[in-house]
Amino acid sequence: MSRVSRAVLIAAIAMPISTAAAAQAHSQSDPLAPSGQFSVYRTAAAQTPPMGWNPWNAFHADVDEAKVRAVAKAMVDSGLATRGYRFVNIDDGWALRRLADGRLRIRDNTFPSSATPGSDTGSFKPFTDYIHGLGLKAGIYTDIGRNTCMQRWDADTPNLPVGTVAERQVGSYGHAVQDMRTIFADWHFDYIKVDACGVADYTHADPPVTSGAYDTFAPLIVRGNIPASNPQAVEGLYAALGEAIQRWGGGNATLSICAWGEALSALWGGKRGNLYRTSPDIESNWKSMVSNIDSVIDGALYAGPGHWNDPDMLEIGHGDFDAAHLTEARSHFTMWTIMASPLLLGYDLRQSAPALFDIVANPEAIAINQDPAGNQGVPYRNGDAMVVVKTLSGTGARAVALFNRGTKSVEASVSWAQLGFAAGSVAKVRDVWAHSDRDATDRISVTLPAHGSVLLRLRGTPSEVAATFLTNMPGRVNVAVDGLTQATALPMGQFPARVGAAPDGRILKTNGIGAFANSRLEVRADRAFHRFLTAPIVLSGGQPVRFRVYADRKLVGEVTGSPTRAAPPIDVDIASAKIVELVAMTNAGTTRPPMIAWGNARLMR
Ligand code: GAL
Repeated sequence: MSRVSRAVLIAAIAMPISTAAAAQAHSQSDPLAPSGQFSVYRTAAAQTPPMGWNPWNAFHADVDEAKVRAVAKAMVDSGLATRGYRFVNIDDGWALRRLADGRLRIRDNTFPSSATPGSDTGSFKPFTDYIHGLGLKAGIYTDIGRNTCMQRWDADTPNLPVGTVAERQVGSYGHAVQDMRTIFADWHFDYIKVDACGVADYTHADPPVTSGAYDTFAPLIVRGNIPASNPQAVEGLYAALGEAIQRWGGGNATLSICAWGEALSALWGGKRGNLYRTSPDIESNWKSMVSNIDSVIDGALYAGPGHWNDPDMLEIGHGDFDAAHLTEARSHFTMWTIMASPLLLGYDLRQSAPALFDIVANPEAIAINQDPAGNQGVPYRNGDAMVVVKTLSGTGARAVALFNRGTKSVEASVSWAQLGFAAGSVAKVRDVWAHSDRDATDRISVTLPAHGSVLLRLRGTPSEVAATFLTNMPGRVNVAVDGLTQATALPMGQFPARVGAAPDGRILKTNGIGAFANSRLEVRADRAFHRFLTAPIVLSGGQPVRFRVYADRKLVGEVTGSPTRAAPPIDVDIASAKIVELVAMTNAGTTRPPMIAWGNARLMR
């Protein structure tokens, strides 16, 4: 048996059968059969995007307990904690070595409170007690492989693990249950970030391996190369770790998957963790920030309460986003806010400039990010101008970000059609950064300076009062099956199901959701609706596609269409179902299934 399957098996034996396992068993039988579930990673954690602080962007490996404690204190004293910043996370650099019996020893020269008389491991309990005593929550870091990222990429920095090759294997590979038990049951952490260099960067050719300092790990992730990676094995490792976290950390423990969108992790992350990186590490420059936006901006159907796309931590306070670049800092925060991204600050809060505080602590911006509906904003592009619309909870409530990626000023506007507001109706408009109010009708237009942005909160009149369009509730749609096989995987950064667009990026002519055939979408209707309507469309391919609608696993509607013969519309009674499922199936296409759309798909109250 391979090491990977053994690790998965060990964890599986130790675990009670979970919802995730049940859903997996279901999908192995017939992935297009209705599940009757909303099969995301289901815990009580991260019902809104996590907010807090992580030392990596400020200190990298040069981190110690005094700095982290002082920042935690500053988070409380400055008022950031009362605005919602809650997690204080330790990143790479805390582990000293793995002992012969597999337990982990903490580096107590940098985390002195961990030194415990008579203990050869030490304990983080005094540290987490301190953090909890401040009313905050504590997070820690590991790697899904045997070794961490710092060991590979920061070989000259302080705080690397020490000892023999085996002792320096401080990653959780082969130790999922043991490590999670220590971290959650003994040390009382609330959150864990799980990196992936250990399964990516320790090949024969990697210098620290070549030099004999580390064991080889046949890579499960080949960066930027999906076909050469093993997405299933990576997903299996995270699944096993997630089970161990739930067992020892309970339902409130947060799991942050850090596989940088590699090995299709942006597509399966929602099944395996509470947040999942979609891109390489953010850097403190504009280009990097924009590229991380692009990694996540089309992924609204992959985020919702308990499962969030993660374009990485904030770089506010550094480089292009420091106190001398408030336009850029505000735009960075505007975009993370509207994208329902985790808000993890990364600068040294002991020396926070008031102007930066005013950005990251703006309660109205935070409220948009933390809106309980959990919808990620949906983008409209026009050259360098980008408009992003986030449906908020409450009738007619929307947030809009208007954002200039470029270095010349641009005009940007948002229309009532894009917002789903009735033509001619008046909306109340609040400008979150200018702290001003006004009324508007039919369209809002602004001029944005270079790198500028505007963030608005609107209250308007929906064009169809009784209808909720699926495009306005992406947080309640789960792409359970996307129709892609690994061989037909899209390039990294593209999402196989999208709001308002086909998977290839083509903009839909109707308000709808684009996907591949052989897909299954789960919609959390929560007994709030009685009818479902849609005009299904076949966008590509020559073969017929069958469209099926299920209400709590019962088939309630079925039509067939092709690119030349439009399918008749569907209008069905869903009898206050909890879960509505939309299945598109075809026999055509061994390489890539045809693209389809659920046009004007809406639930009626
Ligand atoms: C990277 C990760 C960073 C940081 C670093 C630590 O892989 O993306 O956020 O955790 O490793 O070595």
